[in-house]
Amino acid sequence: MARRRIIAGNWKMNKTPSEAVELCATLKDLVKNDAVDVVYCVPAIDIVPVVQAVKGTNVSVGAENFYIEDKGAFTGEISAPMLKDAGVEYIIIGQSERRDIFGENDILINQKVKKAFASGLKPILCCGESLALRKAGTYKEWIKRQITWDLDGITKDQVMNLVIAYEPIWAIGTGETATADQAEEVCRMIREMIADMYDAEAAEAVRIQYGGSMNAANAAELLSKPDIDGGLIGGASLKPDFGQIVNA
Ligand code: 13P
Repeated sequence: MARRRIIAGNWKMNKTPSEAVELCATLKDLVKNDAVDVVYCVPAIDIVPVVQAVKGTNVSVGAENFYIEDKGAFTGEISAPMLKDAGVEYIIIGQSERRDIFGENDILINQKVKKAFASGLKPILCCGESLALRKAGTYKEWIKRQITWDLDGITKDQVMNLVIAYEPIWAIGTGETATADQAEEVCRMIREMIADMYDAEAAEAVRIQYGGSMNAANAAELLSKPDIDGGLIGGASLKPDFGQIVNA
């Protein structure tokens, strides 16, 4: 069965609530495509107005972060039940900025993947290597280690509903995109890993995105690759270009 394409915007820390609503209005007609899952992953404070703004459209809403406990004394944090109640469907986990700037490690990321599934949120699990690891030629080992840790204890049924985003750190926000062949090489390797860890059915079902300076000009070529099922888009998700990526 063919996998359904998933194009997700990661807005990062960019739009105020009123700007977020404006962006939804700008993109509304541009992102119409019933053959593709379209997701806006937005800052926590934008979730409520964005859920409202996309009501009745083909767009789902995702969050950029959450904490693993349901409630309690965790100042500044947001829980999975809060996200669910607000109408959130997807959750980005392990994005490289969370790993590098906020010190999230694979143990916490694994706990977040488990918590997301237990709470009915769909994880978009990110992995990817630094420029140093790419140059050293050890990027595949690195990504294998990330995936092995992050999916520890995750069942086959869960993996079949997982989205994995391969985002080489050297290509994020730099304007430097991995070539379609470089992106496909790693996305294929991830799918083969899932086949080894689970089975062929799980590998066939798991959706794998590429992320890293994906834009209106390069999306079609990246998305034409057999193991690239979508994109996790930062900068270009804040512009009308996002519509061209959805329809690439
Ligand atoms: P850019 O598209 O801005 O490179 O960001 C990609 C990214 O970080 C997705 O999470």
